[in-house]
Amino acid sequence: MATIIKHPDLEDYFVELTLDEIRCRPHGITDLYEANKLILLKGFRLPVDLTLFQRMSGNLSKVEDPKVRRKIKKLTATKFFNGASPAFVEGEQGRTYQAFETDDVVRRAIYDVLCNGEPDLFAAASAAMKTANDVATDLFATCFPSYRYYRVEPSVRLTTTLFENLHWDNHQVADDFQQVRIFCNLDQRPRIWHTSHNFVRYAEAVYREHDLGRFAGRDPNELNDFICGALLGGTRGACTDRLPRHAIAFEPGEIWFGESRMISHQIFYGERAMVYMYFVSPQGMLDPERRFNRQVEDLHARMAAAAAV
Ligand SMILES: [Fe+2]
Repeated sequence: MATIIKHPDLEDYFVELTLDEIRCRPHGITDLYEANKLILLKGFRLPVDLTLFQRMSGNLSKVEDPKVRRKIKKLTATKFFNGASPAFVEGEQGRTYQAFETDDVVRRAIYDVLCNGEPDLFAAASAAMKTANDVATDLFATCFPSYRYYRVEPSVRLTTTLFENLHWDNHQVADDFQQVRIFCNLDQRPRIWHTSHNFVRYAEAVYREHDLGRFAGRDPNELNDFICGALLGGTRGACTDRLPRHAIAFEPGEIWFGESRMISHQIFYGERAMVYMYFVSPQGMLDPERRFNRQVEDLHARMAAAAAV
């Protein structure tokens, strides 16, 4: 189980449920998710040998093309298992691999750099990532039984993250959609997060002081930019904000869910993680009013009404 130290000045939005408990709930965890809870999957571990990932290289400086390097840093998980693989022939001496031929530069870099050009490691990593992908797909269906997604971004991060700034996610996407995020710690060490205020609650608390009404009717990402950057200091001001924090150590292979545009978070330390992001149409929600854009619109409407009294 994750170790959680809860800060008394913050809302306790943590919920821990087993898969069996989730199956017995009429809407899985959809109601809790739409209520902006951070939900941890109790007693569940990704059925993958995590030691495998430690054999992989994290030295991305070997990837010469900066565009490819960026794609390796935030890697599309399906690149591991979709596409050509090194061909082999079985002989008396065991397997003999032929040169790996592919036009896919990302898959090429996964093989050459992350897997050190070792075909067996590449095959094992591909199989592990396929298992992880299938687990995420099954969990989405079980935990959000009435949701249908129209787009998914399956990503995996295999490089060290240290001392992020506390932030709410801004995907730079103009769509008005419900986001489902499934996180998994792929490392054998704990993944350390801090979390703090809910976005709308924090914006409401500082609304008048910072004249946030000027963001009404605009893309909520602009409000996010202002709060994360100008107010909290952005990446350059990492760890210098004064907000209270919950501290969480997610266990190896542990899985959790949360709307990362609503729950502020700071990866304090982590080596490897999988993050699946599903785009769901608001019409498919239990309560479409609970989507991120609408909650921000409601905040502006509420503050304008209060100011008019
Ligand atoms: Fe984030």
